[in-house]
Amino acid sequence: MAAARGWPRKLAAVAGVLPGGGGPGPVPETAAPATAALYVHWPYCRKRCSYCSFNTYVVPAVDEAAVRACLVREAQTLLRFSQVHSVTSVFFGGGTPSLASPGTVAAVLEAVAGAAHLPAGAEVTLEANPSSTSASPLAGFRAAGVNRLSIGVQSLDDAELRMLGREHTAAEARKAVEAARGLFPGRTSIDLLFGLPGQSRDAWAQRLEATLGLCDDHISLYQLTLERGTALAAQVRAGALPAPCQDLLADMYQTARNVLVATGFRHYEVSNFARKGALSTHNLSYWRADQYIGVGPGAHGRFVLRGEGSCSREARVQILEPVAWMREVQSQGHGTRSRVVLSPLEQLEELLTLGLRTDEGITHEPLFSSPAAPLGTGMLMPSPSLALGTQRWEHFSPQLSLQAVFGEPGEARALQQEGWLVLDSGGLRCTWAGLAVLDSLLPDLLWQLQRVLGAARRPSRGTLAEERAGGRGVRAVSGHNG
Ligand SMILES: *[C@@H]1O[C@H](CO)[C@@H](O)[C@H](O)[C@H]1NC(C)=O
Ligand code: SF4
Repeated sequence: MAAARGWPRKLAAVAGVLPGGGGPGPVPETAAPATAALYVHWPYCRKRCSYCSFNTYVVPAVDEAAVRACLVREAQTLLRFSQVHSVTSVFFGGGTPSLASPGTVAAVLEAVAGAAHLPAGAEVTLEANPSSTSASPLAGFRAAGVNRLSIGVQSLDDAELRMLGREHTAAEARKAVEAARGLFPGRTSIDLLFGLPGQSRDAWAQRLEATLGLCDDHISLYQLTLERGTALAAQVRAGALPAPCQDLLADMYQTARNVLVATGFRHYEVSNFARKGALSTHNLSYWRADQYIGVGPGAHGRFVLRGEGSCSREARVQILEPVAWMREVQSQGHGTRSRVVLSPLEQLEELLTLGLRTDEGITHEPLFSSPAAPLGTGMLMPSPSLALGTQRWEHFSPQLSLQAVFGEPGEARALQQEGWLVLDSGGLRCTWAGLAVLDSLLPDLLWQLQRVLGAARRPSRGTLAEERAGGRGVRAVSGHNG
């Protein structure tokens, strides 16, 4: 149980003693041809859901032609900066990108294909809400180049959907999933929330069963978190709704993974389940610390500015507010709010925090060593030909091996002995039990990493990695980019 393991006090003990963030210079990227995943943020919704803290706006009218032109221009600019020669996947998130017209999606994809290579069959996902998802617009998105759909079902109970402030009913959710499966067979994912205020263990078991009768081969499961400033959090604080208890939440999560695995799903990442190899290539590239480019208001990216002669990985965030973002794109070609060169330690912290979210952990096996691998090729099976399985690690840490950092007596070894972690020739990964409590294991591991790299420092509120890529905390809130 997550509650059984607390945050280690020793982290607090060293805080402030040693200088922050140091280490040698940034890790140079190799000269291999650059690839990246690309995220596109559509920043509008029709109505704000009661639990939502994402970067989304409800406006009377959207100037879609202007937004489209800016998305296209920013994608072109950032692809030029990064000199990416091949885009491995594209993800349209939001907001509610299914409210955009297929023409906008097509324009962005054309721009990507024009500025870099977009291999035929590369995963192109669109997030869709059931209320904006009838068969005909979906067919338009498919014609525009979308080949995977992620549907924000969230619940299959009308009372829960009302509490969440969603626009759709359970019946509409079912219809949307059925229409999507007809058009994107094997490539329709659904998002589901658990831990709603007042939700009982039995109610959750019923939702799961209903979901199994409806779903395709991919499910993203999120624990509802009550984010400050949301309507739902205010209701709970005012006592109008009960706060979910931690033991029940842990139990719901455990029930879900047992049920899903028993029905043929692979629990391949903390929040994600897939069968028949239907893993999300796009999200895997976050968890594997590949390069990704973020386009649109508030989008995040991690890439090297090769076009500018740089060899350092940067964290980049675009301007949050759509109108301000558009003004900047129109004048500068991109609306970047901040860029930070990541230190070697920060890069390894990201690799560790994100890599351990997957069942494969931190290994080398290239999933889609450009271009995208076909689906269902057993993408995550460790390859016996790749001895030691630590080359992914070595890419970021050529000098200090995974074994050198975590193989010595210390935190990682203790976690292995307690049954949470494995370090072997396949790399470093969580056990089945460990994956459920990853957030409580990370402080120990980050501490060991910092200590061995000689750069112990105050652990920030969250690492850069947690801030992004499904990582608002280990069990992310919901299926939207922020
Ligand atoms: C997958 O990536 C998309 C796009 O960044 C994001 O909105 C979504 O939350 C991610 N899903 C998970 C489970 O992390
Ligand atoms: S939860 Fe999703 S659909 Fe609801 S307001 Fe937020 S971004 Fe929009």
